[in-house]
Amino acid sequence: MLKTLLERRSIRKYKEKEVEKEKMNQILAVGKVAPSGKNKKPWELMPIKDNKILKKLSMVKPKGGLFLAEAPICIAIIGNEEISDTWVEDCSIVSTFIQLEACNQGLGSCWVQIKNRFTKDDEDAEILTKEILEIPSNKRVLCIIALGYSDEEKLAYKEADIL
Ligand SMILES: Cc1cc2nc3c(=O)[nH]c(=O)nc-3n(C[C@H](O)[C@H](O)[C@H](O)COP(=O)(O)O)c2cc1C
Repeated sequence: MLKTLLERRSIRKYKEKEVEKEKMNQILAVGKVAPSGKNKKPWELMPIKDNKILKKLSMVKPKGGLFLAEAPICIAIIGNEEISDTWVEDCSIVSTFIQLEACNQGLGSCWVQIKNRFTKDDEDAEILTKEILEIPSNKRVLCIIALGYSDEEKLAYKEADIL
């Protein structure tokens, strides 16, 4: 586990190579085991592969999210505050598990924050994301995790960094 923790870095540039279905299934399976308050698991994990949709999502987060347009696949992390008042914590944990499992599968990933973020014109990124992904207004979007084979050099952390 320490190896994975050290190797995981935020990767924002991906090869054009598609992410295999088996790897995605493995990554999405973390949603079944990630811990949550009262074990409510108040999340939905929505994979998005359609490049037109990814382009639209990238415009929702021009600062720190433009690379979504070039990602082979992303997962929107959707929470339900009607199910649990710890939805932010729970969705953060499942997002982190997704990033760790992606690393374990040899993939790069990056968290793109959506909740409490705004476009240049001060439009709410979360509301725009829900419109694009046709998510009901009572649900929430914490973030979008981009995934793919890394096409950038990023050094792993070293054991010495945590001693
Ligand atoms: C809550 C949270 C929000 C983040 N939002 C963004 C984001 O919107 N765009 C982005 O490019 N990276 C984002 N990141 C990634 C961080 O920038 C990154 O984790 C940090 O710089 C440390 O780098 P590392 O992940 O390579 O260790 C976010 C990370 C977290 C945990």
